[in-house]
Amino acid sequence: MSNIKGPRGTQDILPGEVEKWQYVESVLADICHRYHYKEVRTPVFEHTELFQRGVGDSTDIVQKEMYTFEDRGGRSITLRPEGTASVVRSFVQHKVYGYPNQPTKLFYFGPMFRYERPQQGRMRQFVQFGIEALGSDDPAIDAEVIALAMNAYQELGLTSLKLVLNSLGDLESRKNHREALIAHFKPHKDELCEDCQMRLETNPMRVLDCKKDREHPAMETAPSILDYLNKESREYFETVKSVLDKMGIPYVIDPNLVRGLDYYNHTAFEIMSEAEGFGAITTLSGGGRYNGLVEEVGGPETAGIGFALSIERLLMALDAEGIELPIDEQLDCYVVTVGDEAKKEAASIVYQLRQAGIQVDKDYADKKMKAQFKAADRLRAKYVLVLGEDELQNNQINLKNMDTGDQQTIKLEEIVEHMKKEFKED
Ligand code: HAM
Repeated sequence: MSNIKGPRGTQDILPGEVEKWQYVESVLADICHRYHYKEVRTPVFEHTELFQRGVGDSTDIVQKEMYTFEDRGGRSITLRPEGTASVVRSFVQHKVYGYPNQPTKLFYFGPMFRYERPQQGRMRQFVQFGIEALGSDDPAIDAEVIALAMNAYQELGLTSLKLVLNSLGDLESRKNHREALIAHFKPHKDELCEDCQMRLETNPMRVLDCKKDREHPAMETAPSILDYLNKESREYFETVKSVLDKMGIPYVIDPNLVRGLDYYNHTAFEIMSEAEGFGAITTLSGGGRYNGLVEEVGGPETAGIGFALSIERLLMALDAEGIELPIDEQLDCYVVTVGDEAKKEAASIVYQLRQAGIQVDKDYADKKMKAQFKAADRLRAKYVLVLGEDELQNNQINLKNMDTGDQQTIKLEEIVEHMKKEFKED
């Protein structure tokens, strides 16, 4: 029988690698705690309609990339391709907008699913960390979201970062810009790729983001959204920029930064890695403001902004910058035994030490003493306890500190207390 492999675009995260995930996830959760964002957990699948309405019918995600199926009850279900729509759905469903403390500041971790062409940094199942702030249209919260994102990367040690910023303006600004874009690209319609010919009808701004038509001369002369921002949108953007300036967070403006989801308005941003050898896909994270999405999902008028990053790309960036995470892979204690009686006694000592909060392991493969010491070395045990027939007869156990090489003999009944003290001093 042939082997069954995991589906294309998915990965297994095994011990040795999973510690990195746990480490970065703990740093991200800690940052959220400081910025006062609370965790929310939503289901991995939703009614398809949520993403059609939320992310937008004309987006690549909804048109080509969703894992959609009918469940046994005949409902159309989709594995979530992103987190924002689900968070907003849950905010509306549970009337969280009525809670006393507003804005509502949430974060989440979880697998997302997109049927994309897999390549390095582009998976079909990937893990996003994201935050959403709902219920404030203060430009300072736009800056807070961006600051949290930058802070997260910097705290993990990344330095080659570029923050790219744009404003997509409000509905009126976008409408005017849209008309200008259509007028601009229409004469070149036949020269554009098939997707862009469609986009020109449905969402002409996405033409600016097209990888295939990037070199088309009409791109360079295309009308910029920044020239179409009305007074309100312009002022909003200016304030976001000035708060970022005050915070000392550098950014570059790119009027062609469009984002692939339909719900955005006003602030849009992406963070790129500029590290050498990072690979073809340089975007580490993206986000923006989505005033109007809460209403789209059936809630009251509520402003919103957020961003998401994938852990996969974050780890790639750490790799590209050669950053070693401070992961402690040492084992606290390994127990070596000789003889059957000692083995039994050791099982009980291991149990007691673990109850006392110490990480302990022992041999379960009937290895010779020498091989057990080898295993302790491989596991980089800080301490090795040796229980042989002699020790057992004298009611003692031998303790070796593997860093210093110091050895001492301890009474069996005192070993747990002794080890507790050793680890308190560590
Ligand atoms: P997005 O730009 O589609 O935005 O995705 C955000 C991030 O998820 C990307 O910058 C990238 O790091 C990661 N990502 C996306 N697709 C893949 C993939 N196939 N493989 C690996 N990583 C991937 C959103 O999802 C929005 N919900 C962000 C947001 C939150 N906007 C407001 N709030």
